[in-house]
Amino acid sequence: MSHITLITGSTLGGAEYVADHLADLLAQEGHQTDIVNQADLSELRLDSVWLVVCSTHGAGEFPDNIQPFVQQLSELKPDLSSLQYGIIGLGDSSYDTFCAAAKNLEQQLTSLGATRLGERLDIDVSQDPVPEDPAENWLAEWKNSLCE
Ligand SMILES: Cc1cc2nc3c(=O)[nH]c(=O)nc-3n(C[C@H](O)[C@H](O)[C@H](O)COP(=O)(O)O)c2cc1C
Repeated sequence: MSHITLITGSTLGGAEYVADHLADLLAQEGHQTDIVNQADLSELRLDSVWLVVCSTHGAGEFPDNIQPFVQQLSELKPDLSSLQYGIIGLGDSSYDTFCAAAKNLEQQLTSLGATRLGERLDIDVSQDPVPEDPAENWLAEWKNSLCE
């Protein structure tokens, strides 16, 4: 069983609800989970798998609650070569900057050496008004990579 840290970037609460739902499902499978809504690099476990759930706001901007964490990553450039992570973006495809925050964070984590488990999921809330549904489907596949 794995320890999974769910890190959220959310302005209106949607990404937080998705993370809550996924944490419940992971716990039902026997995994240990922490949900972190104000991520601070110094407090995150590197021996945990990170599952980032991040929406996009502004013109492709990060939600306020995750901006300090993104700043820490770019300034401190931690060695994340031992880290495995998954990532889910929430966005609206009517924006040119569809899921830009999740895409940028994925690039950042990868450039710091982290290994992505599974593919990034981009949830289009204009097509999927209940984002927990596609997230749950994605998790069914993603959780298999935890045991490999
Ligand atoms: C003011 C505003 C700006 C937004 N900008 C973007 C954007 O640039 N790209 C995108 O994909 N979605 C954008 N969205 C859509 C949000 O990402 C989407 O509604 C998401 O579900 C919000 O998640 P949250 O409740 O966790 O904040 C924007 C929404 C609002 C209200």
